[in-house]
Amino acid sequence: MNIPADTRLAVRPEDPCTIVIFGASGDLTSRKLVPALYNLYVNDGLPEPVVIVGCSRTQMTQQQFRDSLKSALVAAGNADLSRWEDFAARLHYKDVVYDSSPSFKDLAASLHRLDRQFHTRGNRIFYLAVPPLLYPKIAEMIGQAGLSREGENGNGWARIVVEKPFGRDLKTALQLDQILHGSFKEKQIFRIDHYLAKETVQNILVLRFANSIFEPIWNRRYIDYIRITAAETLGVEHRAGYYEQAGVIRDMFQNHMMQLLALTAMEPPSIFEADWVRDERVKVFRALRPFPVDRLDENIVLGQYGPGIIDGKEVPGYRQEPGVDPESMTPTFARMKVFIDNWRWQGVPFFLTSGKRLSKKLTEIIIQFKEVPHSMFRTLLGEDITANRLTLGIQPDEVINLTFQTKQPGAKVCLQSVTMHFDYQQEYKGPFLDAYEKVLLDCMQGDHILFWRQDGIELSWFFLTPILEQCEICLGRMIQLHPYKAGSWGPKAAQELMGAIGVTE
Ligand code: BG6
Repeated sequence: MNIPADTRLAVRPEDPCTIVIFGASGDLTSRKLVPALYNLYVNDGLPEPVVIVGCSRTQMTQQQFRDSLKSALVAAGNADLSRWEDFAARLHYKDVVYDSSPSFKDLAASLHRLDRQFHTRGNRIFYLAVPPLLYPKIAEMIGQAGLSREGENGNGWARIVVEKPFGRDLKTALQLDQILHGSFKEKQIFRIDHYLAKETVQNILVLRFANSIFEPIWNRRYIDYIRITAAETLGVEHRAGYYEQAGVIRDMFQNHMMQLLALTAMEPPSIFEADWVRDERVKVFRALRPFPVDRLDENIVLGQYGPGIIDGKEVPGYRQEPGVDPESMTPTFARMKVFIDNWRWQGVPFFLTSGKRLSKKLTEIIIQFKEVPHSMFRTLLGEDITANRLTLGIQPDEVINLTFQTKQPGAKVCLQSVTMHFDYQQEYKGPFLDAYEKVLLDCMQGDHILFWRQDGIELSWFFLTPILEQCEICLGRMIQLHPYKAGSWGPKAAQELMGAIGVTE
């Protein structure tokens, strides 16, 4: 892909830096991080100079490291490798033993050497692309090796990037935080939620707060209910080890679904700055009405996929997937009816749905408005007038659709629903940043707006932990695990949860 000069990224981070990736021989590095860094490089989006140091337990030479990443780029279908050799010259490799202080001392010495050689001024990002169990040890070792202290011993700034899961409940999230804070200050910690970095997710705030026509009606007076859906066709793939322990609530709700909810429901911050925006997101979590744990079935439906057909192909059920317990009770689908106890949202249900092996890959937010308070057309048409609906399509279709009533042309008064359609890509000619490119860029610029702050994580767990505990105790008793066919829209009970107020799929 040849990118014309005028469509390259406008913002290139100013500070030179070294990006140290732990877990460099793993999947995340080859599938997401290095392709993202390479694309940024091709789009002139990386600072100059920049050095990338891969670290892992595997012994390999620099050349083997570079070759393996090149093969991964080719496998991912990245056709334009014309600048690969330039980029590869910035890739270095260092094997590290994660629980060994001498090994981290050795790493520190190598990083200082690279700083002197490439003039990266001691600025460093430490990216933990490793299993979460290793986060505490690596963070501690970075600290012990003196690499987290900013402005000392040849260091410039130091930032650490962690991926979800941030703990598996409130208690473990607090423990992880304590360990991270043993070496890093809050402003040095970047907790990724790749959903926040999706263009269309960021557009929610622009739509709401850069237009004056939506905000006045964005409340309980005009909105009947809101549906937030993140449906996937993929199954558990090769991640049974992780997913069996996580399930859909930890995997999708604690992070991505909560953020989509917060952006949809939050109040306008006074300025578009990380802490102002994060303060408002956190207030939404604080206002979440706790679930009545003795009546969970009225608010949550959990499901697990059975065998079925996706894209014309037969696929196995969850319990038949490699590595999954044949009697597993892990939910792969959940729908929750959530309320936010504040003036804006009192009484408006938010239906949050996410599941694997559903009919279609689809992430969207539907704002369903109330019906007209009085229909002057009722003598002609009866009472029934379809209410307005605003759909924010996040993926794969990046769209905004507004549905409203018009008169059908002709002598008689007949209404028809029409849709005003905006396609996010239609006018845009520049390069597209994928979510990982965006978060890496923001981290290099020290901008926290797209990242979780610890108080948000705690509140999100505070809301979900009692549900998880109840589900884990009660599955099969107070709350059931409903089977659903792969390729369907989830269990029937999930439709019934919405059907109670007349919501249809
Ligand atoms: C990840 C989950 O965070 O998000 C995965 O761990 C899920 O299970 C993925 O498939 C979905 O992300 P996206 O961007 O494909 O919607």
